[in-house]
Amino acid sequence: MQALPDTLCYLNGDYTALQDARISVLDRGFIFGDGIYEVIPVYQGRLFRFDEHLARLTRSLAEVQIPNPHTPEQWRQIADTLIERNTARATGEDTVYIQVSRGVAPRDHAMPQGITPTVFAMINPLKAQSAAARENGVACVTAEDFRWKKGHIKSTSLLSAVLARQISVEAGATEAILLRDGYLTEASSSNVWVVKDGRVLGAPRDGLVLEGIRYGLIESLCKEANIPFELRRISEAELRNADEVLLSSATKEVLAVSRLDEQPVGNGHPGPVYAQLYAGYQRAKQGTPTPTVDATPAATNAAPPPAQESLIEFPSLFPIKVMGPKVDGFVE
Ligand code: PDD
Repeated sequence: MQALPDTLCYLNGDYTALQDARISVLDRGFIFGDGIYEVIPVYQGRLFRFDEHLARLTRSLAEVQIPNPHTPEQWRQIADTLIERNTARATGEDTVYIQVSRGVAPRDHAMPQGITPTVFAMINPLKAQSAAARENGVACVTAEDFRWKKGHIKSTSLLSAVLARQISVEAGATEAILLRDGYLTEASSSNVWVVKDGRVLGAPRDGLVLEGIRYGLIESLCKEANIPFELRRISEAELRNADEVLLSSATKEVLAVSRLDEQPVGNGHPGPVYAQLYAGYQRAKQGTPTPTVDATPAATNAAPPPAQESLIEFPSLFPIKVMGPKVDGFVE
């Protein structure tokens, strides 16, 4: 048996060691995959895009007719308590996982009435991408999208995602990029972006994809960097002829795909749009406003943002110029 992480979790009102948490075998999350979930990044002890994740959790609950067991304040309190009492913090980057299942009832497909949802949450270290993956990009394979048509619900019924992901594992690839009827949808557990002639294209927000929290973020990063952004159906040919292909998710942030089905994507290296979006993402993580294109003199005179530790990874994909007063303790 693989060792279980030794972290703290929340289960139905109690905080316990993950290894001690117990639920009934009749929990409908276990029996039917009858539940929904969220994965929220935590950077330096701060929840990233929490309101957006909470809004999606609320939407998913409504879609599957599970009553929302908590107010937004209670949800934040649960996540914050896990962060505060997190003993396994190694890198300062974690994820909070939240799951709500319909609850415990005798096995019957029909939705039982009047039962209490099971609420589970845990915190885990965020597994950062390797420096090699950041520098060289990752390999992906394509596969048929054999999943259901309610992909916009972040459901714990993930067997089709597990099967799709395994296709990529067996091919030695990072992700399976899914095609339905000749059009790109998403990957087994991430969204996919196609870059062509400097434009970023993504699949429409519909039932065939899970709208990642990074959809909105990538759209605003593109806007800030003056990169045209469009959501529309993307054909298999457009995917295969892309200049760049990117993945995004809570855990991958934005990640360049450099090989698809063993063929190079573009020139086979992470491209300039990836570098811009990745840099923007790192700024967003630090809560640093992204420089606007048409900064006014008033903005230039504004007080400088508080000093923050840099999160840019080395080796870096782009040259970095460090400016500011000379500091003796500066470590390159
Ligand atoms: N997966 N599409 C699918 C099918 C996903 O499972 C995910 C996330 C995404 C990206 O969504 P977001 O940007 O909100 O993370 C898209 C999570 C990380 C998971 O299941 O672990």
